[in-house]
Amino acid sequence: MRAVVVRRFGGPEVLEFAEVPVPEPGPGQVRVRVAAAAVNPVDLATRAGVLSAAGVVPPRAVLGLGWDVAGVVDDAGGTRFRAGDAVLGLRDRIALPLGAYADYVVLDASAVALAPPGLSPVEAATLPLTALTAAQALDLVETAGTVLVTGAAGAVGGYAVALAHARGLRVVAVAGEADEALVRELGADEFVPRGPDLAERVRALVPGGADAVLDTALLGLDALDAVRGGGEFVAFAAGAAPNPLRGVRVRGVWIRADGDRLAGLAATLPPRVADVLPLGHAAEAHERLAAGGVRGRLVLTP
Ligand SMILES: NC(=O)c1ccc[n+]([C@@H]2O[C@H](COP(=O)([O-])OP(=O)(O)OC[C@H]3O[C@@H](n4cnc5c(N)ncnc54)[C@H](OP(=O)(O)O)[C@@H]3O)[C@@H](O)[C@H]2O)c1
Repeated sequence: MRAVVVRRFGGPEVLEFAEVPVPEPGPGQVRVRVAAAAVNPVDLATRAGVLSAAGVVPPRAVLGLGWDVAGVVDDAGGTRFRAGDAVLGLRDRIALPLGAYADYVVLDASAVALAPPGLSPVEAATLPLTALTAAQALDLVETAGTVLVTGAAGAVGGYAVALAHARGLRVVAVAGEADEALVRELGADEFVPRGPDLAERVRALVPGGADAVLDTALLGLDALDAVRGGGEFVAFAAGAAPNPLRGVRVRGVWIRADGDRLAGLAATLPPRVADVLPLGHAAEAHERLAAGGVRGRLVLTP
């Protein structure tokens, strides 16, 4: 089968479209024939070697890429799925040699959900990593008050806005001026344009500061400063968690696959497709995501 892999770290040019053996599912696993695989920031970090340098990815001669997949079950093993089921899922085992940028991918059955009716594979592939991260980040937040979401127009940030709104929180969204209508449609009650003096501008709307922040834009201290003393901060990357000044409780979210929860999220959240490219154009997708300004997910199709 064909798969996009890296044998050395670097820019998009190190992505290799290779012939590799079709992976065999083990106990508790299913093999999915990939119809669509989304491109996430974690794929860029893996390709560049950032995750290996951080000790998150073990040394491998060949590394596959891609966490998000939608497609059809090809080998259901002894799991609850059946061959032919339309599914979506998350490959959260980053040490495996092959990922979702491929003709086939093997996933733990617990990481897989049946695709809701009416959702195309391209749409479905945009959901697993982004929706589960937003939901699991919100799980870490205890307040019933005001939550600030930085990077609110981003894929994770947009779902964080939607899920926080659905939970009844007052949502203050930080994004570029051009994205105000988008984030309000997703559920933001207040909008603060990104830029300097963020904390002062948030505090003008929320005297004393927000009760919590979901810092998907990785602003760190600038976002922490917008939170009240004793509030809550959720970080989205290793190294993006500031020191817990003023008694703010700082926690980091680490995505984990959860097929059952994914089924519910996929049935309710709006899919956000930025564009669709052939699998062989993975390098172009990486360049576009790195350049910024992508709204929703770029999706690769084998
Ligand atoms: N820890 C975990 O388990 C986990 C899981 C998933 C994702 N993540 C991380 O979460 C982060 C967000 O992921 P994503 O998929 O949502 O990425 P994304 O779709 O690229 O969204 C990031 C958003 O942040 C915006 N942004 C950048 N700088 C900003 C600023 N100063 N103020 C406000 N907004 C700003 C970007 O705008 P422009 O495009 O205009 O620059 C973009 O809209 C990434 O760092 C990713 O690696 C972590």
